[in-house]
Amino acid sequence: MASKLCNVFHFLLYSHFLLFCSISSAQTSFSPKALVLPVIKDLSTSQYLTQISQRTLLVPVKLSIHLGGQTLWVDCEHGFTSSTYWSAICGSPQCTIAKPNTCSNCTSTPTPRPGCNKNACLNTPENPFINTLYDGGEIAEDIVLIQSTNGYNPGQVVKVPQFIFTCVPTFLTEGLASGVKGTAGLGRNGIALPSQFARAFGFARKFAMCLSSSTSSRGAVFFGDGPYVMLPNINVSKSLIYTPLFISPFGTGYVPYLNEPSSEYFIGVKAINVNGKAVPVNRKLLAIDKRGNGGTKISTGKAYTVMQTSIYNAVSKAFAEGLSNVSRVNKDVICLAFVDGGLNPTKSIVIGGYQIEDNLLQFGIANSRLGFSSSLLFRQTTCANFNFTSQA
Ligand SMILES: *[C@@H]1O[C@H](CO)[C@@H](O)[C@H](O)[C@H]1NC(C)=O
Ligand SMILES: *[C@@H]1O[C@H](CO)[C@@H](O)[C@H](O)[C@H]1NC(C)=O
Ligand SMILES: *[C@@H]1O[C@H](CO)[C@@H](O)[C@H](O)[C@H]1NC(C)=O
Ligand SMILES: *[C@@H]1O[C@H](CO)[C@@H](O)[C@H](O)[C@H]1NC(C)=O
Repeated sequence: MASKLCNVFHFLLYSHFLLFCSISSAQTSFSPKALVLPVIKDLSTSQYLTQISQRTLLVPVKLSIHLGGQTLWVDCEHGFTSSTYWSAICGSPQCTIAKPNTCSNCTSTPTPRPGCNKNACLNTPENPFINTLYDGGEIAEDIVLIQSTNGYNPGQVVKVPQFIFTCVPTFLTEGLASGVKGTAGLGRNGIALPSQFARAFGFARKFAMCLSSSTSSRGAVFFGDGPYVMLPNINVSKSLIYTPLFISPFGTGYVPYLNEPSSEYFIGVKAINVNGKAVPVNRKLLAIDKRGNGGTKISTGKAYTVMQTSIYNAVSKAFAEGLSNVSRVNKDVICLAFVDGGLNPTKSIVIGGYQIEDNLLQFGIANSRLGFSSSLLFRQTTCANFNFTSQA
């Protein structure tokens, strides 16, 4: 019955209604094993963009992926209306999970509105593209819809009725790609997307990201366990090899006095080899120190890999030597993918988007383990090969 109604509405009204219908019919019987979000690389900013349906009435919200981000934040100063928006009340379980930095009674508007409510808890969302934090983000809840998956195709759309997110003023969207209203934080903390979806549907606190290098075909983020299958029927979960993930004691987006570890993902690079030869680097820079400085972070906030100056110089030198036999064109292309981060960056190496494209990366939050596939091109597929034709 529900699906018949949907078809009728589909012809008569907006696609919003179609989503409502498939939800109400799904709620009682269907429990997803995993979820999938399409991701496309933006040509002008190199940001990886996705879209999620939120609010009542439902609207598609364009977001930029922020791998280490602690929250889903959206602009709710402009263009935000929803009859199901609830600010999180100080001391509530939602506030506890969100690890707020403070509680506030907003008085900047005469009547409460999204982003300015009484007795609401606040956190510190981050825009990694302009390195800006905002410590007055109102923690809130609203409906979110997302597609389930069996690992081969998207399936039924499922609903999280009380998805926790952060409501921010418009200024924080500066530097985001055109039309993008916020960021989708995939960090290791409790209100980032992976942990919230895991709680909502009872699946593993892990997710996999497969970023396409193409700006015209979509990669994917999968929440929950595999299989993750790319055309032509290649189970890329089989290609994963594992390395520990490390936790930095402090991070961007967190207020130091909260004493909360960083929501970002670090790997333990111990040495760098170019052409089979060890590159001489200061080992101290590769470790994370007590103040959270140093180490190697993976980030979608940077298009290319950024290295502290001494590491950058050593790697560039090794590349130049190794490539002295290779054609000039190749040399230019490869050198473009690394950036000098200066003498005192907070992280010594930040592995950027370009270096992880067409690799499947699986982030195990509960067991602090990163699975990575190496280039899928060697396996005759790419991150653009997920079959997005829905089977719902
Ligand atoms: C907000 O106002 C309420 C009621 O007036 C008061 O009890 C509470 O302490 C205030 N909260 C803050 C953070 O000022
Ligand atoms: C995919 O590969 C994983 C890892 O080897 C395996 O556990 C799983 O059963 C495979 N699934 C399918 C459908 O081939
Ligand atoms: C370049 O290749 C030649 C021949 O394979 C080799 O003899 C030479 O050592 C190489 N140069 C560098 C800098 O590796
Ligand atoms: C993609 O999935 C759809 C739905 O299952 C299927 O009909 C189609 O053949 C698949 N595409 C390819 C190229 O296998």
